[in-house]
Amino acid sequence: MKHLLSLEKLPASEMRAILNRVGHFKSNRASHERPLAGQTWALIFSKSSTRTRVSFEVGIRELGGNVMFLSASDIQLGRGEPIKDTARVLGRMIHGAVIRTFAQQDVEDFAQFSGIPTVNALTDDEHPCQILTDIFTFEELSGQSIEGKVVTFVGDAACNVPASWIFAAARLGFELRLAAPRAYWPSPGILRRAGAGEDADWARNPGSVTERLQVGSGTVELIEDVRLAARRADLLYTDVWVSMGKEAEAAKRIAELSGYQINRELVQAAKPGALVMHCLPAYRGKEIDEDTLEAHANTIFTEAENRLHTQKAILDWMVGSA
Ligand code: CP
Ligand code: NVA
Repeated sequence: MKHLLSLEKLPASEMRAILNRVGHFKSNRASHERPLAGQTWALIFSKSSTRTRVSFEVGIRELGGNVMFLSASDIQLGRGEPIKDTARVLGRMIHGAVIRTFAQQDVEDFAQFSGIPTVNALTDDEHPCQILTDIFTFEELSGQSIEGKVVTFVGDAACNVPASWIFAAARLGFELRLAAPRAYWPSPGILRRAGAGEDADWARNPGSVTERLQVGSGTVELIEDVRLAARRADLLYTDVWVSMGKEAEAAKRIAELSGYQINRELVQAAKPGALVMHCLPAYRGKEIDEDTLEAHANTIFTEAENRLHTQKAILDWMVGSA
């Protein structure tokens, strides 16, 4: 049985198997393939969502399945029923689950106790579906493989989205630069899990403003100087400064991350024709400015659309017909 719980655990060959099918689903939207015929899938969400929820709901229906959306606050899970009991009940009734929640362990436990295919639709640790979409979109719009390219992530480099980018860099062999103040660099634990070995412990070099780590077949650079990080990048990428669950830290984060914005000046430092992407939702004037978002809206909303085609490729891969 296949799950998609993290990019950390997804081998490069499986990543490519999914990515290779996205274009097929994009160019055959009305195809009559029904790999989920006769199945009912549940979306169990403890956090807000527009893109992930809608793309999975539409995608499951287009693949012939039925879908139910379960807000965690509406089911007994929200009143303290353990995830493993919820999993054992749903596993006897439905065929697959897509879960958005806080703790990564909850998604792992659900997969273990339900015995049905389970997708991580975002946890505090990872956002694997998003980064698969982003890689597809980069390769679609640039016409080039991401292997060997420079991806510069700007902003909170310690949250779920850059963590999934780190694991993708290790698997697919590109250079990932994380432009952030040291307090927002990813934990040594994540870097170690990605394959950085002893070099992962950047905290042992107090005051360092850049660190370059080999991870798997890629590299990760931790860089405080945002302009340096953007230099000759093929892709500039950002995410919100205040992730879901971090609202109490909003004022502090906005103050500390204020220099880490994608704007015209930063785009000029990147490679001519560099793509600008954002997983969305976007907060203009924070992680990206209005003019830059609008100038790159075609890329950013193609990326959003591609969530649908990628979810279909993920589901198709999970149920084994890929
Ligand atoms: N990018 C993303 O996952 O968007 P939603 O939070 O709207 O699902
Ligand atoms: N890092 C963000 C991603 C939103 C899609 C969050 O967790 O809120």
